[in-house]
Amino acid sequence: MIPGPTNVPDRVMQAMLTPTINHRGPEFHELYKEIQSNAQKVFQTSDEIVVISGSGTAGVDAAVGSILQPGDTAIVPSYGEFSSRLGDSARYTGANVIAPEADLGSVPNLEDIEKAFQTAGRVKALCVAFNETSTGVTWRRLKELKEIASKNGALFVVDAVSVLGGENIPVQKLGIDICIVASQKCLAAPPGGVILSFGQEAKKAMAQVKPRNQYFDIPKYFKFAEHAETPATPSLPIFFALDEALKIILEEGLEKRFTRHEICADAFYAAFESLGLRAFTAKEFRSHTVIGIKYPPGIKDEEFRALLDKKFGVLVAGGFGKLKGIMFRVGSMGMINSTLVTVTLDAISQSLRYCGYQSKPEQALQAAWNILKALDQ
Ligand SMILES: Cc1ncc(COP(=O)(O)O)c(C=O)c1O
Repeated sequence: MIPGPTNVPDRVMQAMLTPTINHRGPEFHELYKEIQSNAQKVFQTSDEIVVISGSGTAGVDAAVGSILQPGDTAIVPSYGEFSSRLGDSARYTGANVIAPEADLGSVPNLEDIEKAFQTAGRVKALCVAFNETSTGVTWRRLKELKEIASKNGALFVVDAVSVLGGENIPVQKLGIDICIVASQKCLAAPPGGVILSFGQEAKKAMAQVKPRNQYFDIPKYFKFAEHAETPATPSLPIFFALDEALKIILEEGLEKRFTRHEICADAFYAAFESLGLRAFTAKEFRSHTVIGIKYPPGIKDEEFRALLDKKFGVLVAGGFGKLKGIMFRVGSMGMINSTLVTVTLDAISQSLRYCGYQSKPEQALQAAWNILKALDQ
């Protein structure tokens, strides 16, 4: 139950046992075309899809590296570990990065983003991490952020690594120029693959940028995609897994999947509140995929999580960096369902009790069930 890698359906694991095929042959061509077409449906866009063998960071590096170069300026708001890593990826390109900040557990003010544009001169891109996995905060202001970017002639890049497939992100409707998701989060596949969408404006911009290395030369991916291939050898097991994972998502239906994530997240938050625990962020920014909860006084992070793991077989994540010992994070992604929610809640509330916190597991379960019953309707 960590915020990725998350649980993977058997169908996806089985798909990875498919015998190795020629990555320049007809079977791969069919596979890649199917992944691209199903990914477009999951991204809700007709933009071009690129699949790269690599982790989420590879996707982020590929995205910013394709449009930024020395001399460019990017605005990359920072409100946690992954939004600041997005800024770091932009800095690696040699671009000047302006990073309006917000306190951990919060999101930047839109006025601060506007101000950053006013003082920055020409800005090539606004890059945001929609779901800040390190704090459990989702910046539900994509529409407004896109408007600010457009008004200033900047591209809009969204790191949706830990949320696409778990919350509605209509990429085309929102005008996201580059969007990135990783396999091991809400797509419920193992780690090792990233999917990116590139809109027309992003493609135009990258034509003016000299790729800094061969692996992340995105125009080369477009060229190879004309024959349904990737420039370098793809990680075939991950491609088989992604293909199956995307099919499962579409079989369920996007709307149903987003609702399932929201209901399970609401059940977690309500149950934790019933135990007297507090979410790490305000209600409107609470993530539907990463449940960030503050520790009550006296609970030691390592002791609690070790107990949870050893006694109950449930893994959750601790806080990142400065938040170590302050909060824990539950991944509520991909396959999340009422069984996983209630087993996790029972284990957490019992572990808290072992650690000396006055916790009533039955109260948490009741609060969760009051919400989870909506899943059956
Ligand atoms: C929002 C976000 N961006 C980027 C990354 C980096 O992904 P990876 O660790 O797969 O390289 C993560 C990882 O958790 C993430 O949550």
